Amino acid sequence: MGLSAYCVLHLCVTFAVALEVYQPRQSPGQSVFVRKSDIVEGFRLATRSLPGWLAPAEQHRIRRRSADRGDTCDALRGYEPKLVANTHSYIFNDLSGSVSLAWVGDGTGVILALTTFQLPFFMIKFGQSKLYRSNDYGKTFQDVTDLINNTFIRTEFGIAIGPENSGKVIMTGDVSGGPGSRIFASADFGNSFTHYDLPFIPLMQITYNPHDANILLVTSTHNQLWLSKDFGINWKKIYDMVCMVKWGPENTIFFTSHPNGSCIDRGMLDLKRTTDYGKTIKTMANNIFSFGLGGRFVFASVMTGKGTLRRIHVSVDQGEKWNMAQLPHVGYEQFYSILAANDDMVFMHVDEPGDTGFGTIYVSDDRGIVYSKSLERHLYTTTGGDTDFTNVTSLRGVFITSTLAEDSSVQSVVSFDQGGEWLPLLKPANSKCNTTAKDPEKCSLHIHAAYSTSMKLNIPMLPLSEPNAVGLIIAHGSVGDSLSTMNPDVYVSDDGGYSWFRALKGPHHYSILDSGGLMVAVEHSPTKPINQIKFSTDEGQCWSVYNFTNEPIHFTGLASEPGARSMNVSLWGYRDSVISQYWVSFTIDFRELLTRDCVTNDYVQWLAHSDDISDPNDGCMLGYKEKFLRLRKDSVCWNGRQYEVNPQPTLCTCTLDDFLCDFGYFRKENSSECLEQANLKGQDLEFCLHGKEEKLKTSGYRKIPGDKCEGGIMPERKEIDLRTRCVSDMVESELRSEVLKSSSSAAIIVTVTIVMLLSIMAGVLFIKKYVCGGRFLVHRYSVLQQHAEANGLDSVDEPLETNHAPNGKIEFHDDSDEVS
Ligand SMILES: *[C@@H]1O[C@H](CO)[C@@H](O)[C@H](O)[C@H]1NC(C)=O
Ligand SMILES: *[C@@H]1O[C@H](CO)[C@@H](O)[C@H](O)[C@H]1NC(C)=O
Ligand SMILES: *[C@@H]1O[C@H](CO)[C@@H](O)[C@H](O)[C@H]1NC(C)=O
Ligand SMILES: *[C@@H]1O[C@H](CO)[C@@H](O)[C@H](O)[C@H]1NC(C)=O
Ligand SMILES: *[C@@H]1O[C@H](CO)[C@@H](O)[C@H](O)[C@H]1NC(C)=O
Ligand SMILES: *[C@@H]1O[C@H](CO)[C@@H](O)[C@H](O)[C@H]1NC(C)=O
Ligand SMILES: *[C@@H]1O[C@H](CO)[C@@H](O)[C@H](O)[C@H]1NC(C)=O
Repeated sequence: MGLSAYCVLHLCVTFAVALEVYQPRQSPGQSVFVRKSDIVEGFRLATRSLPGWLAPAEQHRIRRRSADRGDTCDALRGYEPKLVANTHSYIFNDLSGSVSLAWVGDGTGVILALTTFQLPFFMIKFGQSKLYRSNDYGKTFQDVTDLINNTFIRTEFGIAIGPENSGKVIMTGDVSGGPGSRIFASADFGNSFTHYDLPFIPLMQITYNPHDANILLVTSTHNQLWLSKDFGINWKKIYDMVCMVKWGPENTIFFTSHPNGSCIDRGMLDLKRTTDYGKTIKTMANNIFSFGLGGRFVFASVMTGKGTLRRIHVSVDQGEKWNMAQLPHVGYEQFYSILAANDDMVFMHVDEPGDTGFGTIYVSDDRGIVYSKSLERHLYTTTGGDTDFTNVTSLRGVFITSTLAEDSSVQSVVSFDQGGEWLPLLKPANSKCNTTAKDPEKCSLHIHAAYSTSMKLNIPMLPLSEPNAVGLIIAHGSVGDSLSTMNPDVYVSDDGGYSWFRALKGPHHYSILDSGGLMVAVEHSPTKPINQIKFSTDEGQCWSVYNFTNEPIHFTGLASEPGARSMNVSLWGYRDSVISQYWVSFTIDFRELLTRDCVTNDYVQWLAHSDDISDPNDGCMLGYKEKFLRLRKDSVCWNGRQYEVNPQPTLCTCTLDDFLCDFGYFRKENSSECLEQANLKGQDLEFCLHGKEEKLKTSGYRKIPGDKCEGGIMPERKEIDLRTRCVSDMVESELRSEVLKSSSSAAIIVTVTIVMLLSIMAGVLFIKKYVCGGRFLVHRYSVLQQHAEANGLDSVDEPLETNHAPNGKIEFHDDSDEVS
């Protein structure tokens, strides 16, 4: 084997080595549909009511965290022997091209490592997989390849980990010598596997019902929808010709299908739903181009009946009743994308006509119907489907993204109030502005995210934040008038993005451990082998260095249990010599470094979003403020696995800024009052709501979704029926018209790409190094599943399509026989 592998190594030396590491995105789902056709006319915003809840008088205050900063960096001494005693290395006698890692369960310490050696040539299906299992957080592994009987596992589908702590694992393999497919299923955290041959060939990873891990769903290469109720033993075909399928809440399955059997004919699809696993299937909508789920909303883009235009319709009752969303329509070459959604609201990106690379972000009201314009010129490339939009999960209401300026420069902006207002990021205190920049006066921090990685800049990781590491963000960035393509540095914010400091010079891999009590980083150097890991116990201010080996490795990535509670971190890489190349992992247990458990004294109180404690409204965000207990920077102690973030919320009194203007109302500049729009008739026809069931009464104000303020100002005004303000006949007939001319647009069919952000639930991590490594190495993470959130409501959007595209997103090819 060694010899043949070595030969192949030579064959592939020209392969690309890009080091790409993808962090879990918190956004539950996102769909992008790209298709080329004629340019349609641009959309003009007809009403000025949109700048929603912009706080008019508010100055662009940037608040700082008032907690201690005076750390002297000598809290830690003599750590080396402690770490040496707790460093465990494991050498894999394995030359395979890729490693996929999956954590099974939460706090079990079980990791499955699947190595795959595959010939990378088109059409040739040959490969070999080996399976290793650890039950001590990666310190030691056992070769358990016999459990999968040497079958070649389809790594592009990854290792499917069951929801919650079910301990279920499924891997999809090929039947040797035949065209069939076989799954290996484990219900005991990967201790044993049973294999079942499938009566079809799967097109995508098998998906679990998020509420019942025994129920599996998958589409086949012939676009049939197959379901198993007994964890893979028996399979039943529930529908033919399915284009896209998603699990909804409470055992609901949504899918699109084409009446005449071709998914290519987008815009002609039916949206169907079953709540009894296929016994009865109900058609919920026709003329669908695409659909998406987010929070409690179901979105569908529906052809308008006017040429190639489509627009978003929304349902909050699982598709029974639909309302048209007050969003611009789009043409074939444009797309809608759900950037983030929860039960309260959605961030929707609407692409600009033409291949501009940007669009507009809208934020919805609580019904998903009325939208406020949130950010213009929002960067979102059509080609790669890349956006920097990031939900900062360590502080409520904070989002970071990028805009595309007219001179094509990219600039980062942050919102601290759920999209109400976007500001440049404050210049880090310990950084210099770029004096050679076009505009040296403009000087702020710019964050590298998905767009930079798609541009193949030297960015090994996306911005990282964890819900249990309150206020902490770590990201690559540059300082100046716009995002720089030069080597980035690593910046840290400890107050949810208000203030920043440069923590590390040059690009790094990083990871948050012990709920933020510990951070680790490894220098990113694609060419140079490394032997050092850096760590910090004070949220990135001081870093210590530890040589974890004397024999440097070609480092490919950091791996720690999803959820940031662990104290064990693994460094994965390989060693390379003239005759052999093998995988090696180092696992460092930092538990001994932090010698004691944290006690009450180790924590300080911190008011989020705050700047001036004396102001009673200070720290109010969406109607309430939250105090947290946070670890003091100079405390060197262990938060522990049981550590809970305990926000202490207090309600704020309402002001007009806790309301947005409803449809048909607008705010004058520098005023909080919602005024009635004079002539809604005629010109604004497009925006008229037309839901039959939805109460269309309004007083002009609507609480911002998720806003919990009480008392204070309650705008009072007579309610009027919005419908009387619209000329509804035309709109009605537009919706009704299901007759679409069978268009000539089917002529040019470009691959349709559906991009979804992976929702994080229990963890799957792929570390992928393409065959033959050579100079080029791909290390790919994609955390698929983690049921960390208390409400667990966002779990509906699992990635369901095929093909993990290299940017951690999912591509779906209509030409479904091509599974690459
Ligand atoms: C393993 O594979 C071989 C050859 O394909 C087959 O003969 C054997 O029965 C398999 N063993 C198990 C346990 O599946
Ligand atoms: C389906 O095919 C039939 C005839 O084969 C045709 O009359 C009908 O219009 C087609 N429907 C769609 C939605 O393409
Ligand atoms: C952002 O992330 C937080 C924490 O995971 C989540 O509670 C919130 O709902 C997310 N917001 C949106 C709009 O998705
Ligand atoms: C400074 O700005 C100039 C012009 O935009 C750019 O070419 C250069 O790379 C920047 N330098 C750094 C260190 O970011
Ligand atoms: C750690 O490794 C670096 C090289 O990577 C070396 O220069 C340094 O001396 C080492 N430090 C110790 C304490 O061994
Ligand atoms: C680190 O790994 C050990 C097993 O080697 C485990 O007992 C311990 O709980 C882990 N620590 C954390 C914080 O997960
Ligand atoms: C709104 O306020 C800003 C800053 O206070 C001021 O520059 C601007 O002229 C005001 N606009 C109007 C229409 O009053």
